[in-house]
Amino acid sequence: MPSAPDSPLPLPTLDDLDVENRRVFVRVDFNVPLKGTEVRDDSRIRATLPTIQRLRERGARLILASHLGRPDGAPDPKYSMEPVGARLAELLDCEVRLPDEVVGDGVTKLVLDTRAQQIVLLENLRFHPGETKNDPGFAQALASLCEAYVNDAFGASHRAHASVVGVPRLIGARAAGLLLAAETSALGRVVHRPEHPFVMIIGGAKVSDKLPVLIATLDRLRAGDSILIGGAMANTFLAARGVELGASLQEPDRLTDCRSLLTRAEARDIRVLLPGDLRVGRGLKADAARVVRVADDVVDPAEMALDIGPDTETRFAAAIRGAKMVFWNGPMGLFENPLFAGGTLAIARAVGDCPGFTVVGGGDSVAAIQDSGAADRIDHISTGGGASLEMIEGQTLPGVEALLTPLGRSN
Ligand code: 3PG
Repeated sequence: MPSAPDSPLPLPTLDDLDVENRRVFVRVDFNVPLKGTEVRDDSRIRATLPTIQRLRERGARLILASHLGRPDGAPDPKYSMEPVGARLAELLDCEVRLPDEVVGDGVTKLVLDTRAQQIVLLENLRFHPGETKNDPGFAQALASLCEAYVNDAFGASHRAHASVVGVPRLIGARAAGLLLAAETSALGRVVHRPEHPFVMIIGGAKVSDKLPVLIATLDRLRAGDSILIGGAMANTFLAARGVELGASLQEPDRLTDCRSLLTRAEARDIRVLLPGDLRVGRGLKADAARVVRVADDVVDPAEMALDIGPDTETRFAAAIRGAKMVFWNGPMGLFENPLFAGGTLAIARAVGDCPGFTVVGGGDSVAAIQDSGAADRIDHISTGGGASLEMIEGQTLPGVEALLTPLGRSN
């Protein structure tokens, strides 16, 4: 079976699937940000269009299904797929039929009435309690709607939910969509064929969320590679080196983990670059920023570190520009406040300038790449946050594994 070149797994491909005039269930990740009743950012919808177009061209009868937000297993109008259906209809310039439930007689009738090239978008999968529980009855109800299954929901493939793992285990005719194949190929290349010098840039609020990926990546790195750490998670690393940071967010229960990671990296000549200067402000709503040097200046007890400083931007950018491969996840600071967005944007530009193979994942880092104007110079921008991190940790995502599991097996 052909597979994406950098994937260690022989994923079944879309082009090998017989779809003409068949009902094809496509699990997509249309979990997009909304503003009122409109889609605020349609990137995830656009990223799935090649798969949808390819299947339509080949005469499939399409049943698209996604979750949106985290409703509690019951219908909640706030999380209806209606705005998503409207945006999809605009992008494809075709009718998108929206039943008002996920499964049931009305849905079955609509699906059976659907003709080649037509599209049904099911209501939010998480309106049914069986989705997140991977309930076999719910998986069976979804499977009975279709004759073939496609997973193009990379961003949700780390969730062992009914539409991600239950349905494909019931359907022999199944494949990875083009987005899932592209994501697993690019992230698979980072994991299985790292090029050196390799630079990992990691940021965000909590070091506890990122320790597994840091530890797994460290094991794959060589002398001369670098890990650049920014965002509030850098505070705990700085604290582990004895730096006092006023009211900055920190995780004291992770100091030992941070120390041990720094020691292990040092023993193998892997550079861990921490901020040498910071932009600080008075609280998360700060309306003024001040630059402090970590080694020399005192952070006031009421001040918080909210971004990396200008010298750190320069030092990080130099490491990034010299890399053969870069993976970036997580902002360098409080990116939503323009006073503290500079560090993240500087890193985005440096990643854009890097001649090596560059991959960016995670909501804020992707938004920064788009705001910085560097998006078209990045080799791969992942649509998955948690899913991309789990892949970089070296895990096989449940949704990917389900495409490879023999029929009827539950694991
Ligand atoms: C995401 O936005 O990361 C995916 O759609 C998964 O959403 P979830 O974290 O609510 O499962």
